Amino acid sequence: MRRSTFYLARLARGDRSLPLLAVRPHASPQTFKSVFNTLSASRSFATSVPKLSGSYTVTYVSPEGARKTVKAVDGDNLLELAHKNNIDLEGACECSLACSTCHVIVDPEYYDKLEEPTDEENDMLDLAFGLTDTSRLGCQVIMNKDLDGITVTLPSATRNMRVDGSKPTPH
Ligand code: FES
Repeated sequence: MRRSTFYLARLARGDRSLPLLAVRPHASPQTFKSVFNTLSASRSFATSVPKLSGSYTVTYVSPEGARKTVKAVDGDNLLELAHKNNIDLEGACECSLACSTCHVIVDPEYYDKLEEPTDEENDMLDLAFGLTDTSRLGCQVIMNKDLDGITVTLPSATRNMRVDGSKPTPH
């Protein structure tokens, strides 16, 4: 059996361990076409990007009362979602639970649907400017179907611990 025929026979059996370069470089164009057709038939290629689950909304309310509603999916946290949508929520430590600048005030209707804050989050919340009974750190609020429609208000100030008071640029 010729090498290319042997290769094709293994491909036809669904052997996915074969390197594509198993066809000799001087093989005829017909052989390459045949290998390509066999590959296309025996392997399924993804033709679309996998769909992220969930399609939710989050409304951010600025300290002045301006509302902005954005779309979210499962796993989005409220800090990164804000940055993605040009909402001015600070996030000095970039979600590492070492600041309170991502402080948000959660609508009471949704507050009880959130996971309990960890001790580390509570420690940071104690340092937040304008702490309320429904305060959370935005980077610790992770979207899921129960939180669809959540509204959070940004506090009028944050306690930025950067020496120069600068804000990080989201990336
Ligand atoms: Fe620092 Fe959330 S960004 S705790």
